[in-house]
Amino acid sequence: MDEKSKIQAEKHLTGTLVLSVFTAVLGFFQYGYSLGVINAPQKVIEAHYSRVLGIAPLDRHATNASGEDGTVPSMQPWDGTKGTLAPVADTGEDLTTSPHILTMYWSLSVSMFAIGGMISSFTVGWIGDQLGRVKAMLVVNVLSIAGNLLMGLAKFGPSHLLIIMGRAVTGLYCGLSSGLVPMYVSEVSPTALRGALGTLHQLAIVTGILISQVLGLDFLLGNDELWPLLLSLSGVAALLQFFLLLLCPESPRYLYIKLGKVEEAKKNLKRLRGNCDPMKEIAEMEKEKQEAASEKKVSIRQLFTSSKYKQAVIVALMVQISQQFSGINAIFYYSTNIFERAGVDQPVYATIGVGVVNTVFTVISVFLVEKAGRRSLFLAGLMGMLLSAVAMTVGLVLLSQFAWMSYVSMVAIFLFVIFFEVGPGPIPWFIVAELFSQGPRPAAIAVAGFCNWACNFIVGMCFQYIADLCGPYVFVIFAALLLVFFLFAYFKVPETKGKSFEEIAAVFRRKKLMAKTMTELEDLRRSEEA
Ligand code: GLC
Repeated sequence: MDEKSKIQAEKHLTGTLVLSVFTAVLGFFQYGYSLGVINAPQKVIEAHYSRVLGIAPLDRHATNASGEDGTVPSMQPWDGTKGTLAPVADTGEDLTTSPHILTMYWSLSVSMFAIGGMISSFTVGWIGDQLGRVKAMLVVNVLSIAGNLLMGLAKFGPSHLLIIMGRAVTGLYCGLSSGLVPMYVSEVSPTALRGALGTLHQLAIVTGILISQVLGLDFLLGNDELWPLLLSLSGVAALLQFFLLLLCPESPRYLYIKLGKVEEAKKNLKRLRGNCDPMKEIAEMEKEKQEAASEKKVSIRQLFTSSKYKQAVIVALMVQISQQFSGINAIFYYSTNIFERAGVDQPVYATIGVGVVNTVFTVISVFLVEKAGRRSLFLAGLMGMLLSAVAMTVGLVLLSQFAWMSYVSMVAIFLFVIFFEVGPGPIPWFIVAELFSQGPRPAAIAVAGFCNWACNFIVGMCFQYIADLCGPYVFVIFAALLLVFFLFAYFKVPETKGKSFEEIAAVFRRKKLMAKTMTELEDLRRSEEA
C-alpha cells in the first residue's frame, strides 16, 4: 500500500466507529441541553416558584428593557438579574425579603448543575478504570434519568426543591460524562481522525444548547404548562444513549493496556477499523503499555507533584481556563440582555441567532482542525475573540452617542462566538486526552474537567456583579485575559495534530530536557563567573 492510500485507510470511517462516537457524544448533547435550557423559561419558572412559595413575583426585566418609545436607552450598569418587585396587591407579606428568597432559589436552580459537575468530574478516572469506558457511560446514565425525572415531576411536589435536586443530579451525570466521553472517543478514534472526531464533543454541546434555546420559545415548551417537559427532555437522549451503548465496543486501548486482554482488543479494533491492518495500532498500544507499566498508575496528587507532568498539567489547565474565562458563557447567559441594550426588537431571536452561528462554525471547525492543526486554530481563535471583545466594548461605550454602534456590538458578539468555535471552544475538550499517556490520562482528565466546571461556575456567578461594577467596560476584562491566554498558548501549547500519544509525551520530555539543560548551563556559567 502506498503512503497516500495508507493515510486514506487510516481515515476510514466504519459504521461501528460512527455508532460508537455518536453514542458517546450523546452525553455531551445532554450537557449542552442542560446548560442552555435554564435560560429561556426563567420568567415562567420563577413565577411558578413565587406561587408555590406564596411570595410576590419578581420582574427582573423591568429595569433593562429598551425605552418604551423604542429608543435605545443610554448605557447603564448591566442589571439583568437585579430584581424589582412587580406591583402586587397588599398581602401583608414581607416584600423586602421575598425577592431575595426567589433570587436565591433561582440561582441555586441554575448553579447546582455546575456544582454537581464539579464534584463528579473528580471521580471520572476511577469509574472509567473500574468499570471500563462503555460500562461506565452506561451506568452513569441512571443519574441523568433520575435527574430528569425529578425535574419532569416538579409540578407534583415542592417544585423549587425538585428542580434544584434534579439540576444537581443531572450535573453529576454531565460531570462524569464530560470526562468519560472524551476518554472513550480519543481511545477509539484513529490518530488521523482524532481531532475531527474530538470536535464532535463541542458540536454535540452546541446542538444541545441550540435545541434547548429553540424549544424554550414560549409558544413551544417555554410556557407555564410545559416547562417541566422542557427541563426534563434530555432524559430522552439518556435513554437513547443507554440502549445504543449496548452495541458499542469497549475501547481497545483500555482492554489492551489496562486489562491486558490482547485478543479482545484486537477483535474490537477490527470492528472499529474494518479491513485496516490493526498491527500498527497494536504496536503503538504495546509501546504505550510498556510506558504505562514503567510509570505506573498516576494519582491526582502525583500528577501535581511529579515534575515529569508539570508542563503538560499546566497546559491542560490553562486551556480549560482560557476556554471558560474567555467570557463565552457570559454571552450564553446574558446575550438576550446585551441585545436588548443594543436596541434589538426581539432579543430572544438574536440569542437563537447566536446559537445558530455557534453551531455552524463548530461544524466548520470539525473540518478545519485536521487541516490547520490545534495550536494555530487555538491561537487564531483567541486573537479573534480578543479583537471582538475590544470592538464590543467600543460599540457599548459609544452606543449613547451613535445609535448605529448597536450594529457594531451585535456583529462583534457574533464574531466573538465564531472565533470561539474556531479553536478555544472545541480544542480543550479533546486535547487533554492527547497530552497524556495511559498512566496519567484519567487523573489529568478528571483535574481538567474539574477546572473547566469550576471556571464555568465562577463566570456564571460573578459576571453579573463585575458587569454592574464595570458597565459597558466589562469585556475589557475578558480582552485582557484573552491576551494573557494568547501569549501563554503561543509559548507553551505544542502542536498535537497527527502525533501519536507517545510522540506528544516526547515533546514534553524534550521541553523538560531543554529546560533542564538550560538551567545547568546557566549554573555552570554562574559558577565559572564566580
Ligand atoms: C464549550 C464550553 C461551554 C460553552 C460552550 C459554548 O463547550 O465548555 O461551557 O457553553 O462551549 O458553545
